[in-house]
Amino acid sequence: MRGPAAMQEDGEHLIGQSPAIRELREELHYAARSDAKILITGESGVGKEVLARLIHRQSNRSRAQLVTINCAGLPDSLLESELFGHVRGSFTGAYRDKPGLLETANGGTIFMDEVGEMSLRMQALLLRFLESGEIQRVGAERAQARVDVRVIAATNRNLVDRIATKDFREDLYYRLNVIHLTMPPLRERREDVPELLEFFVAHYSRRHALPVPSLTPEALAHLVGYHWPGNVRELKNFVERLVLRARRGVITPADLPMETIPPPQEAIREPVRGAAIDRMYERMVNGREPFWTVVYEPFMLRDMTRDDLRALISRGLEQTRGSYRLLVQMFNMSEADYKRFLNFLRKHDCQMPFQRFRNITVRLEPGGAGEAAAQYDRRHAEA
Ligand SMILES: Nc1ncnc2c1ncn2[C@@H]1O[C@H](COP(=O)(O)OP(=O)(O)OP(=O)(O)O)[C@@H](O)[C@H]1O
Ligand SMILES: [Mg+2]
Repeated sequence: MRGPAAMQEDGEHLIGQSPAIRELREELHYAARSDAKILITGESGVGKEVLARLIHRQSNRSRAQLVTINCAGLPDSLLESELFGHVRGSFTGAYRDKPGLLETANGGTIFMDEVGEMSLRMQALLLRFLESGEIQRVGAERAQARVDVRVIAATNRNLVDRIATKDFREDLYYRLNVIHLTMPPLRERREDVPELLEFFVAHYSRRHALPVPSLTPEALAHLVGYHWPGNVRELKNFVERLVLRARRGVITPADLPMETIPPPQEAIREPVRGAAIDRMYERMVNGREPFWTVVYEPFMLRDMTRDDLRALISRGLEQTRGSYRLLVQMFNMSEADYKRFLNFLRKHDCQMPFQRFRNITVRLEPGGAGEAAAQYDRRHAEA
């Protein structure tokens, strides 16, 4: 297990070659060139912070600080003083004036993690700051400084749901969500698992000065098939334990913890599934058979999972560059079926965001990278 990944340091690179990660790499490249606010969403442990670091490092703010604050778990009073600072005597224990993180990050970037957990009061304060750029330390009479900070916020919550329940301000959401980057969970980009394993195996072997173990193909297949509810963080911790415990140089399925081992029929299904999806795709695109018989029926009979359906739809959207209308044609449905098709996907949570496939055009647009970046920003600002 030795490849280019083995040479990199943890947290410095976004490991993975899945289409989703490649696209994110491209998006982050453009995002880094602007000052637009960014909202990163994704499940816990998917790598939202890695993304934020890379954006900062690639931006022209990289010489100034990237300051991180976790908005969850701090009581309001503390969070407010952390962010905005305080003046001497403003509360018991405030012996001297203290600048907040927003001032520390002046000229740089602030990464506000778990922004979905902020109280409504803190959301109001943050919104005021975003609108004016002014800092008012806790206990101060008036605003004392204007700062220039790029804001990257992250959350594993669905903010649209939080808005519906009045737990999150809609105006703040639109302020933060100028560029929206979504990190898909690891189980939706299983092709990244081998490279991540390789990277962390090399990393922890080096760190603990232990020999680099290797995985048998069966063990690897099990780990690729595992659903990784804790995403990359879980994989990383798992690998550290594996490296520490590896008695022999070779890791077989017997050395893996039970929960990572899928039930037997699942294990056989994995490669079969890929091939079955290929066949369905062929039947529609080359064999001119309609979606309703090739896909809809087996799906309704539960011969096909939602992940299968998503994979198939993604594959089609790659061809049509995100156009569902063209997909309807390509999958041999009539135009009148458009709505029914979308409703079906939506109902089963299989409608893939078309932007993911459309962004590919960024590369194809005329003009230099600057123009592409500007177009990118405009598009995201409109979205
Ligand atoms: N694509 C990746 N390449 C390399 N390392 C990664 C990648 N994704 C995640 N990691 C590693 O996994 C761990 C979790 O990532 P990170 O802290 O960025 O997740 P997160 O999305 O911010 O999670 P949470 O919502 O729990 O804060 C980190 O140690 C990070 O270095
Ligand atoms: Mg995080």
